[in-house]
Amino acid sequence: MTPSGFDVNRPAPARRYDVLLGGKDNFAPDRSSAEQIREELPSVDRAARELRAFLHRAVDFLAADCGVRQFLDIGCGMPYKPNVHEIAQTVHPDAHVAYVDPDLLVTVHARALMFSDPLGAVSVTEGGLDDIDAVLNAPTVRELIDFDQPVAVLLLAVLHFVVDDQHAQRALARIIDALPPGSYLALSHVTFDPLTPEHVERLTKLAEPGAGHGPFRPRTHAQITALLDGLELLPPGLVSVVDWCPDRQPQPQITEEEAVAYGVIARKPTTP
Ligand SMILES: C[S@@+](CC[C@H](N)C(=O)[O-])C[C@H]1O[C@@H](n2cnc3c(N)ncnc32)[C@H](O)[C@@H]1O
Repeated sequence: MTPSGFDVNRPAPARRYDVLLGGKDNFAPDRSSAEQIREELPSVDRAARELRAFLHRAVDFLAADCGVRQFLDIGCGMPYKPNVHEIAQTVHPDAHVAYVDPDLLVTVHARALMFSDPLGAVSVTEGGLDDIDAVLNAPTVRELIDFDQPVAVLLLAVLHFVVDDQHAQRALARIIDALPPGSYLALSHVTFDPLTPEHVERLTKLAEPGAGHGPFRPRTHAQITALLDGLELLPPGLVSVVDWCPDRQPQPQITEEEAVAYGVIARKPTTP
């Protein structure tokens, strides 16, 4: 059965991530895809949990250390506690979080399960990087996010699903353009950089169009750095998610080779 925008016969990124995180909002093709990836990358479940730990540290850093009160979470995925608004509102109860995802199952769950602190607000918008102008102009985003004040845009474990570099670059440029100076971008992105060439070759086969796992493009440090052109990278820069502020909570639990992902927080400069 496929209601509009909802295909249960192929793996979907949000539902497969749900499998890896031990959730129950997934279907047989998602579980089968996750199992095939596990065969080649046995740490993948722990890698998914490490991406959530990076999200937690990054949002806490943005709220507590940078004073951000507005978050635009593009490719937000299913609700998992603690959600972005719960982390941000622990610091600023009046924080606003606009959640965005193209997957109908995600937005249905998010609308049902995301409850804001009464002083703050959350909204849920169906959309994504394929039509970023529609996201930036959506009433559900505009009602919550004041684009005259600093915003933190979250692109966490999302950009590797945009395989075309120019498309990714254009969407990012459009987002940065819409933000006032002093705004932030938090990014996490899968990479095969820490792996051996033989391992990369086996994993790359899974990412091929005919492999049945859907579009996927891991990127190198240089390729991700190029996407961040024009932004100031806050210390420690673009590093493995396990090396990003590892003293904050929740602390990393695995190695770079197991996590296979970079993380970074960047800022739109206040002087061009
Ligand atoms: C692996 S999940 C990450 C969820 C969450 N950001 C996190 O870090 O836990 C990837 C999410 O990106 C969404 N996604 C895939 N392609 C996208 C696109 N082109 N634009 C926006 N979101 C996309 C999927 O629907 C999914 O919910």
